Amino acid sequence: MLTHVELRKKYADFCIKNGHKEIPAIPLVPQNDPTTLFTGSGMQQLVPYLLGEPHPLGKRVFDIQPCIRAQDIDEVGDNRHTTFFEMMGNWSLGDYFKKEQLTWFWKFLTEEIGLDKEKLYVTVFAGDKKNNLSADEESIKIWKGLGISDDHIGKYGPEKNWWSRAGVPDNMPSGEPGGPDSEVFFEFTQIPHDKKFGEICHANCDCGRFMEIGNSVFMQYKKVPSGTFQDLPAMNVDFGGGLERIAAALNDDPDIFETDLFSKIIIEIERTTGKKYDVKNKSKMRIIADHLKGATFLIAGGVIPGNKEQGYILRRLLRRSALKMYELTDGKTTDFAEIADTGVLTTYDQVQGIDRNKLKKEVVMIIGEEIKKFNLSITRGLREIKKIEKVDGKIAFDLYQNFGFPYELTEELFREKGQKIDKKQFANEFNKHKELSRSSSGAKFKGGLADHSAQTIKYHTATHLLHQALFDVIGSDVRQEGSNITTERLRFDFASTIKPTEEQIKEVVKIINKKIEEKLPVEFKIIPKEEALKLGAKSFFREKYPDMVKVYFIANYSKEFCGGPHVKNTSEIEKIEIYKFEKIGSNLYRIYAK
Ligand code: ALA
Repeated sequence: MLTHVELRKKYADFCIKNGHKEIPAIPLVPQNDPTTLFTGSGMQQLVPYLLGEPHPLGKRVFDIQPCIRAQDIDEVGDNRHTTFFEMMGNWSLGDYFKKEQLTWFWKFLTEEIGLDKEKLYVTVFAGDKKNNLSADEESIKIWKGLGISDDHIGKYGPEKNWWSRAGVPDNMPSGEPGGPDSEVFFEFTQIPHDKKFGEICHANCDCGRFMEIGNSVFMQYKKVPSGTFQDLPAMNVDFGGGLERIAAALNDDPDIFETDLFSKIIIEIERTTGKKYDVKNKSKMRIIADHLKGATFLIAGGVIPGNKEQGYILRRLLRRSALKMYELTDGKTTDFAEIADTGVLTTYDQVQGIDRNKLKKEVVMIIGEEIKKFNLSITRGLREIKKIEKVDGKIAFDLYQNFGFPYELTEELFREKGQKIDKKQFANEFNKHKELSRSSSGAKFKGGLADHSAQTIKYHTATHLLHQALFDVIGSDVRQEGSNITTERLRFDFASTIKPTEEQIKEVVKIINKKIEEKLPVEFKIIPKEEALKLGAKSFFREKYPDMVKVYFIANYSKEFCGGPHVKNTSEIEKIEIYKFEKIGSNLYRIYAK
């Protein structure tokens, strides 16, 4: 039986053998990506290159990317869904295409890791008449050429065999890349088909007999403003395979929580609660295991529990685990930060590039504090909930306000009682209290959509100017902690041992606008990392960089490691103002500008 460490290595070796260069995974909280809270797939960092920019490492790259799909939170509890997972990915940036990709993945599964051919099923795109997208006959031929019989090949429409970050072709915004895909499924023959899901079982049946383990996307189209599809500058491959799921296939057990990517966490939960991982407790234990793992990776990525955006998701994950733990222990509140340490951290040598021992204290402290705080009000909150006959948005808000129950948690508790909450009413209450977080309104959880709109690109370049101006004015100990851009504004977090004064912030604004007026050219170069560091290009300390990097230069004013895109000249940016400056933690500051 392969361990997850061996499985990773097999995949890496296989990619290298086929001419790929390894790219470091990006942080779970992507930098400078305007429209997504989390890295949700391996291709996230490759969007500019799939759209045609040259990649510093060439045309064949691979990695294993930690991902969070917060939108899947309600699915967690079954044997295969998680919010946190790792994606093995490889990409062809205008190099090889269907034939190589499908053959390689097939060989990887059957020869390198030895899965039983008979248990593998594939699916291909059946076409989409409405959008004038033809069926993928070529992939069918390739699969047949590999010896796969007709009854192991399924054809499905865009709902199943089309991939873009926005989903089906109809949902894609203009500018978004996507394409038909071909998936591989593993059949767990010990799971009998359940007719509740249809007369006949098939690869995409929801009965649990089949599990998708890998997806080869043929990224060859871009949606254009007229709503039709245009060829991308090159034909690309975007492959993603779930590490946990492939490990489960190797186990011939569909429960990913039984793989060594979760077993230590489950054992710790059993130990802490004195309960067994059996039918009665499985679902709750899986939720706790997944959420604590996600939380640990988020904390390693610099996120702290809060009421907005990433911080809010972290809080939700932790509070939901606290509630499941409370239910599991029949009301005994426990401080279970230890599980994150002995369960999660020991599964990995490094988390988000940081040594596990270094993280231990931070993880245990942050989780411990959040759980303790929430535990204080769980009992009272639940008692309150018991008394409520009919919930509404206002009551949900009171539960949030008085007992710290995240809206979604309350929604879940009442869903179990068959009641629905009017979210608008909740939002109205929230608004009245003037702290509605954009994030909790849901728009951004839906996917990871970078709109490379003109406005966000301008803000992106303005962010580089801001970063350098802060250095100029406050000093070289300013350290970027994160940034986030929407079409309405840019946000920039930084650490500094000196508290910037109001005058200094005014000075920063003055410099940025001067640089805009100076009409400076913006260009990038692809150079060795060593050289870039020597030049003094700013890098982001939470990110690991490959040997060759892309550096953006704003004349000789700013140099920064960055994938782009940017404006061509600073004159394209309109005048910038900083409309909010706040302290968000010890030595931590946040700037909003537009
Ligand atoms: N980007 C593709 C996916 O997430 C591979 O499934």
